[in-house]
Amino acid sequence: MPDRTSAQPLAQPGTTLGTPFVERNLDLVGKIYQRSVYPAAFDVASGKRLSSPLVVDLDPTTVCDLACPECISSQVLHHGQIGQDRIVRLAHELAESDVRAVILIGGGEPLLHRAIGRIIEVLHGAGIQLGLVTNGTQIHRHIDQLAGMLSWVRVSVDAGSADTFQAFRPSRGKHSAFPQVIDNMRLLASRKQGRLGYSFLLMQRSDEDGKTADSNYGEVYQAGLLAREIGCDYFEVKAMLDEDHYTVNQRAEDIELVEEQIARLRELEDDSFHILYSSNWQAVRRGSDPVQPKEYHACAVTELRTTVTPTGVFVCPYHRGNPKGRIGDIQRMSFAEMWSQADTTVIDPTEDCRFVCARHGTNQEIALLPERPTPVDLVEDFDPFI
Ligand SMILES: C[S@@+](CC[C@H](N)C(=O)[O-])C[C@H]1O[C@@H](n2cnc3c(N)ncnc32)[C@H](O)[C@@H]1O
Ligand code: SF4
Repeated sequence: MPDRTSAQPLAQPGTTLGTPFVERNLDLVGKIYQRSVYPAAFDVASGKRLSSPLVVDLDPTTVCDLACPECISSQVLHHGQIGQDRIVRLAHELAESDVRAVILIGGGEPLLHRAIGRIIEVLHGAGIQLGLVTNGTQIHRHIDQLAGMLSWVRVSVDAGSADTFQAFRPSRGKHSAFPQVIDNMRLLASRKQGRLGYSFLLMQRSDEDGKTADSNYGEVYQAGLLAREIGCDYFEVKAMLDEDHYTVNQRAEDIELVEEQIARLRELEDDSFHILYSSNWQAVRRGSDPVQPKEYHACAVTELRTTVTPTGVFVCPYHRGNPKGRIGDIQRMSFAEMWSQADTTVIDPTEDCRFVCARHGTNQEIALLPERPTPVDLVEDFDPFI
C-alpha cells in the first residue's frame, strides 16, 4: 500500500494557511509547489514518466437521467458503463497506485453507477481524496458516503427556479428535477464534512433572427441566494463552451447583466460562503480571444492527471472521446498495465488544444522548473486536486 501520510483531512471551509480556501484551491499553478507534488512535477519537466498519475478523472458510466441540450459530453453519452466487477477492481488498483485524488465525473451521471457507493468506500478507505461532479438527482441514495467520505461535491444546477432548470437540464419525464436536486443539496449540506458547491453554467439560445430565445442569465442572483440559503460553501459561475471547447463571447449588455448580479452576491460573501468566477467566465467578460495559442508540443499535465472512461482512457477531459487523445483502455487490462504502456504525448497542444485550457498556466510553469534556482520554496500540502 503506498504511503499517503501526507494526505490532508477532508477539506473544510474557512481558511487554509491564512488564505481563503477557495483562492488557494483555484491556484492551479501554486499547487505544483506543494511539498508532495513538486517532485512529480519536476520529474515530468525532466522528461521522466511517473509510476502513476496523481489525479484521475473517473467517468463510471456514460448513462445520464437528464438530457441537457448544451451538454459538452453529448457525443460520448449512452455508450455503456464500466462493468460492476471491473470498476470495483479498478478502485482497488487505484488504491494500490500512487494516485492521490479521484474526481468522479462524466460524460454521464456518476451517481447512476450501481457500484458507486462501493467505489467511494474502497477509494476513501485507501486514503485517496475524492471529489464529485453531479447533476444532484441521486444524492439521497448515497448520502452516507457522500456526506462522510467526499472532500467536495459540486452540483451542476444552472438555474434558480424549476422552470429554468427544466429548460436547460430537462428530465426525461414532464416534471422538473429541480425540487429533488435542491432537497438533496439541503440534505447533504446538513451532514457533509467536505465542501458543497452550486455550479451555474451561463447558457443562452438564439432564434433564427439572432434574438435570445432562452436564457438563464437573469437567474444568477436568485440561484446564488438559494445556494447560500441551503448551506452551500460556494457558488460558481461558469461560461458555456461550444462543442469544440471554445468560449463564446457575449454581448456587452449580457455581461453587464451577469456582473451586476455577481456584484450583489459578493456582498453576501463571508467565511462560509464564497462566489467563484471560472477562468472561462473571466475570459468571456474580458472579451479575450477564444483562441489560446500554445507554444509547447507536449502537455506535461497529461502525465500528472488522466481521464478514465468506459470507452477508453483519454489524456484529459477536453479530449474525452477524441480518438487522437485516447491512450489506453482499462476494460482490457489493469490500470498499472494501461499506464505503463500509455503514450501521454499523443496530443500536440500547438494544434490540438487551441481553446482556452485551464491547465495552460501549469504547463508553462512546469516547463520553467528545470531552470529555477534551488532550493525551491515549497509549501505544505493543501490540496491534492492539482
Ligand atoms: C458533462 S457534466 C457530467 C457530470 C454530471 N452529470 C453533471 O451534470 O454535472 C460535467 C460538467 O460539465 C459541465 N458542462 C456541460 N456542458 C457544458 C458546456 N457546454 N460548456 C461548459 N461546461 C459544460 C457541467 O456544468 C458539469 O459541471
Ligand atoms: S494542454 Fe491540451 S492536452 Fe493538456 S490539459 Fe490542456 S487541453 Fe488537455
